[in-house]
Amino acid sequence: MKKILVTGGMGYIGSHTCVQMIEAGFTPIILDNLANSKPEVLLRIARLSGHKPMFYEGDVRDRRLLDQIFSEHQIESVIHFAGLKAVGESVLKPFEYYDNNVYGSLVLADVMRQSGVKSLIFSSSATVYGEPETMPIDESFTTGAVTNPYGRSKYMVEECLRDIQQAAPDLSIALLRYFNPVGAHPSGLIGEDPQGIPNNLMPFIAQVAVGRRESLSIFGDDYLTADGTGVRDYIHVMDLADGHIATLKAVAQTAGLHIFNLGTGKGSSVLEMVKAFEEACGHPIPYQICPRRGGDISECWAATDKAAQLLGWKASRSIEQMSADTWHWQSKNPNGYEQ
Ligand code: NAD
Ligand code: UFG
Repeated sequence: MKKILVTGGMGYIGSHTCVQMIEAGFTPIILDNLANSKPEVLLRIARLSGHKPMFYEGDVRDRRLLDQIFSEHQIESVIHFAGLKAVGESVLKPFEYYDNNVYGSLVLADVMRQSGVKSLIFSSSATVYGEPETMPIDESFTTGAVTNPYGRSKYMVEECLRDIQQAAPDLSIALLRYFNPVGAHPSGLIGEDPQGIPNNLMPFIAQVAVGRRESLSIFGDDYLTADGTGVRDYIHVMDLADGHIATLKAVAQTAGLHIFNLGTGKGSSVLEMVKAFEEACGHPIPYQICPRRGGDISECWAATDKAAQLLGWKASRSIEQMSADTWHWQSKNPNGYEQ
């Protein structure tokens, strides 16, 4: 069985990826400090997949623990999800973001080097592209025009890994640039469980739909888009999880720097997302139009040809499916993992 270390495997994207990995015959070993996730996730992964992954509760910056994991297991690849991800919080706590995201990635890369593990898949973000003038965004677009410490931390890690791979050409390093992951496992057993007020659109809509919040604030209706609201490339988290399996199979054992967008290639507006969710939950979502949110771009969607050609992977789930699965998860677990 191919053992894959999954840092941040208890989180939103990591948990869905672990389930799909087990299905595909890989053995995930999870390292997570539970900074943004709950122990219950492990039981849900086990229930869904029939296998309870080995779990190390600890920090990716803990060199000794990483040493221990690499000496206890023959690890074939590492998928590195662990990190902090709230844009607004990163402006207030830049040190924590650079420490977790940049320093954490460097410690991991260093211990991998010492342990002879040569394959790393890194969770990057479309945010590294800033706001390009043309759409769709392909992987050759310039990166680095980031506007906040979170985005800068992702860009910095990409640049560090690029240099590290250049100096050690036998390494396989994949930089996966996610667009906007939403949705949940169709079982409704695992999903996104943000702590406090959700920063992102889909979990906010879901909490309004289930009655936890009164109404959605739509940040701006004066963008140069068809209906004036912001446009994003929402990708179902199950498609995203499958994108990691495709990466493991297609390039994780091939030396090189492999850069891929993981998106659907289709942009949807805030109002289109609200409409799709209303259909899924069967009642209206109250909303009001508010001023634009600082730092937001107007629109963004991915070019998907490179992933299709080289990974043999394409996202297939619609925004209706994303909304239906989010609603299933949210209505079954109105308070997330905390019942
Ligand atoms: P998440 O917060 O749900 O998962 C991250 C997990 O990492 C959590 O379980 C958390 O407890 C753990 N973690 C954080 N710091 C850690 C540390 N120092 N040591 C060990 N574990 C630690 O987030 P997610 O949405 O699943 O995102 C996963 C990755 O994908 C992140 O790196 C994120 O930046 C990136 N990403 C996410 C999005 C998105 O919109 N969700 C978009 C682009 C990129
Ligand atoms: N929006 C609202 N109301 C809300 C939340 C969001 O109108 O309560 C709007 C935003 O203005 C934007 C769209 O919904 O037009 C999507 O916003 P999200 O916050 O869900 O997503 P972003 O595209 O702003 O950011 C996400 C991740 C970042 C990542 C970025 C690019 O949160 O971490 O995608 O990958 F950097």
